[in-house]
Amino acid sequence: MLKNLVVILSLAATPLAAQERAFTLDAPDTLVESGFLKHLLPRFSLKTGIRITLGEGAAAFGAEGTPVFRRDAKIWHFFGDGGAQAAAFEDWLLSEVGKRTIDQFKPESGAPFRSDVAVQAKAEMVELTGDLALGEKISLAHCGRCHVINDSNRMNAIGSSPSFALMRTFSDWQRRFRTFFALKPHPAFTQVTDVTEPFADNLPSPIAPVEVTLEEIEAIMAYVGSIQPADLGSPIQFQ
Ligand code: HEC
Repeated sequence: MLKNLVVILSLAATPLAAQERAFTLDAPDTLVESGFLKHLLPRFSLKTGIRITLGEGAAAFGAEGTPVFRRDAKIWHFFGDGGAQAAAFEDWLLSEVGKRTIDQFKPESGAPFRSDVAVQAKAEMVELTGDLALGEKISLAHCGRCHVINDSNRMNAIGSSPSFALMRTFSDWQRRFRTFFALKPHPAFTQVTDVTEPFADNLPSPIAPVEVTLEEIEAIMAYVGSIQPADLGSPIQFQ
């Protein structure tokens, strides 16, 4: 009986585990042709057992997301797909081992790739082109169930969630808002069209799900960009 149970359990676990150990990465031709990815990706896979297939997908190297490496002055960003494997890849790219792997690549031609993007990235704020009015509407409808968005929902939000004005004070607020759907607690109840996987059958959203598109996230960001950061008080002056 016990043996049967074990067999059933492992059968049930296999497809999920297999599915979890890979993701698809979208990369522009210039990056593929440089040979850099042939150096980078296998080393990550070897270390973590996570396979990366190049192709069309939500996870991408490009102009959006977290700055991860540069070639001359061009900074390359990584944008995750909300999944754990892509998040592990991002962590690895930013880790000491990942950075060393980036810096070790010797291109056949052209400048080397460099991992020292943090300093350049700081000054670089992406221009916000989303629809501000739509952003306020979506924020109130979806995020306002928990977060204080502005005075109009101050009484309805949940106290344990940080207000938008508070989060606007974070120096990396753009990154956090762009990827909020992958940051806790949101993955459990958030669906981004064409980006996130549907909720697992055994883990349906515990609350009415938040459903947004990438365009709506851009709009939310444009709106957040217009919010006055919370005044956290000026430092106490000692006489
Ligand atoms: C069901 C409640 C709920 C909803 C709905 C919700 N959030 Fe949150 N959010 C939270 C909580 C709670 C935290 C604080 C998590 C923590 O402190 O670890 C949070 C944190 C955040 C953060 C900071 C995350 C980090 O780790 O830096 C961002 C950005 C954010 N929310 C954006 C949004 C946006 C945008 C929406 C709407 C599209 C939204 N949230 C909808 C509950 C919610």
